[in-house]
Formats: sequence, structure tokens, C-alpha cells
Amino acid sequence: MANLAILASGNGSNFQAIAEVIANSRHKIVCLVCDRRNAFVFKRAENMNIPSFYVSYKNRDKAGAEREIAEILSESSADLIALAGFMRLLTPELIDKYPGKIINIHPSLLPKYPGTHGIKDSYDSEDFELGITIHRIDYGLDTGPVIVQKSFTRCGDESLDEIESKIHKLEHKHYPAVLQGILDDI
Ligand code: GRF
Repeated sequence: MANLAILASGNGSNFQAIAEVIANSRHKIVCLVCDRRNAFVFKRAENMNIPSFYVSYKNRDKAGAEREIAEILSESSADLIALAGFMRLLTPELIDKYPGKIINIHPSLLPKYPGTHGIKDSYDSEDFELGITIHRIDYGLDTGPVIVQKSFTRCGDESLDEIESKIHKLEHKHYPAVLQGILDDI
């Protein structure tokens, strides 16, 4: 049995997909950490009885916010950390506390279209192969060793909404499974 912590900032559809799969495994989600007070992901955590923590980045330096996150992760005995729509870059100080143990999902086929608009940038591109990347993080923005990429071929006449929902469908299928596989090996 291993302990998973999830960091998120917003809607939390990936959080939900992960939580549903982990609930049926021998592993445990020990906490949600979120940097936006009104994020919908808090509601999802509450519905699933998962402890959640709001960590504010306002009016303090990043190091202070991250010290608070590090304390929560340590007190929760987290073995693995999943970033699921967490909209901040972690500093090397926090990353180095969990070497190789912080996983991220990004809604494009990295190294293409890193950053906050991965779906829109993919959609606006001339690429026919679109998809997702699950990777271990390093100090960069959406960089770090790739664990898996999943893709689909677009017809070319889908709307942005349709592409977005195809990408989320891939995320919700593969992110929980990849995390469970890593937890199994801890
Ligand atoms: C996902 O598309 C994920 O790939 C990206 O942020 C989005 C989060 O969505 N990093 P949600 O909050 O899980 O619904």
C-alpha cells in the first residue's frame, strides 16, 4: 500500500478520475493540496472524504507557500505526488525532496505546446496527431522524462470543445492507471 498526494488548482476532473480508481485499489489518496480557495476540486475531495488543504500563495514568497506544502506532504506520509492541473511551477527545493516521485499530466504531445494553453495551442496547430503526456517533473515548465504519451488523430473538422473533450477523455483513462502502476511498484 502506498500513499498518493494530489496537487490541483481548478476543476479537478483528473483528481476525480484518479480518486475513483485509487478508491478501488490497495493504495490511498492521503491529501489534496490546492492553491485556489474556491476551486471546485475542494467539493470533489469533500464528496470523497479526502482531506484537503488550501495553501495560499498570496502576500508571501513562493518559498513560504512551498514550506507549507512540504509540511502537509510530510505529515500525510505521501510516497508519490501527482500534479493534476496544478498551475504553479514547483521550485527545486520542493522537487528535490521527492526525486522522481512527482508526476505531471499535460494536455499536449510534449515537447510541443508546453504551458497553460496546451489544448488551444494543439488545436490551433496544423498537427493531426494530438494527445497527452504523462511525465516525471524536473525543474522546467512541462519538461522531464516522459512516462507515456497517448494520442488520437483528428479529422480536422472538430470544434475546440470536441478536441478538448477527447483530450480529457484520454487523461481520465490513462492518468489514474499510470499512477496506480507506479504506486504498485513503491
Ligand atoms: C488538464 O487538462 C491537465 O492536463 C492540465 O490541466 C487540466 C486540469 O483539468 N495540466 P482538471 O482540473 O483535472 O479538470
